[in-house]
Amino acid sequence: MNIINFGSLNIDRVYNVESFVRAGQTVSSLGFNTFCGGKGLNQSIAAARAGASVIHAGAIGPDGEMLETCLHDSGVNVASLAHLSTATGHAIIQVDPNGQNCIIVTGGANMELTTEYIDRVLAQGQPGDIVLLQNEVNNLPYIMESAHRLGFRLAVNPSPITPELLKAPFELADWLILNELEGAEIAGCTGSNAEILQTLHTKFPSTAIVLTLGSDGVVYRDANQTASERCFPVKAVDTTAAGDTFCGYFLAGCVEGLPVQACLTLASQAAAIAVTRAGASTSIPTRGEVRSYTF
Ligand code: RIB
Repeated sequence: MNIINFGSLNIDRVYNVESFVRAGQTVSSLGFNTFCGGKGLNQSIAAARAGASVIHAGAIGPDGEMLETCLHDSGVNVASLAHLSTATGHAIIQVDPNGQNCIIVTGGANMELTTEYIDRVLAQGQPGDIVLLQNEVNNLPYIMESAHRLGFRLAVNPSPITPELLKAPFELADWLILNELEGAEIAGCTGSNAEILQTLHTKFPSTAIVLTLGSDGVVYRDANQTASERCFPVKAVDTTAAGDTFCGYFLAGCVEGLPVQACLTLASQAAAIAVTRAGASTSIPTRGEVRSYTF
């Protein structure tokens, strides 16, 4: 059973700053690094490091070789990657001394997935495979509808939220993995986290809702059960890719057949470790590291 991830691949240019730059301001960075990133790439790596079999589908340009190597070296199948002449996607990321970030993404090759390419990748899937999506590639509704029609299970991490994304057929998703801000947008409600979870469940009764709440942990609801897990406290260095780590680890746990509670715990612990390290893909722990980490 594979996770087929139609996901972004970005070159992350990370600037450490005293505080996020404001309108009209010019600041000198305290440090600069280039990392492999993209919500898609990060989630593929997280799922693979958790032990899942992952096929990454997506596109890079001539400058994207390091991203392909990074996926491959993490055990992700990259045979389906498209190589285009458009520049690879990239992100400009500011990280402050508290480890918080703000990100600008330029989609580049990520936004050039054709329906022919999508059909070709899906044709290689097997019954029981999971198609995973974030909102950093184009043609999302097409992928969701095709994956559903072909009988794949569908996991959607609706990040980043855009007005266009709100029209996507989320009811087709088997899992919706999202944070409280994304949840409020899709639910169309500004209430408490409990209200957001309830509204999402009412709107999408066949979908398992996994609502991450930052320092308040995560809550889960599907047709049969509710569950929750706390946030494991750590000293934050860089929160980039913590959500992606959670997402990849959670799905890997599902593929493995772990009970929901165990999936939530595993994913929360992996995400906490990611926060203690700099960068996106570089921060994602292996399963062994999660097992031996003392919280
Ligand atoms: O979720 C973190 C990721 O968001 C970064 O790696 C960056 O590339 C953006 O896609």
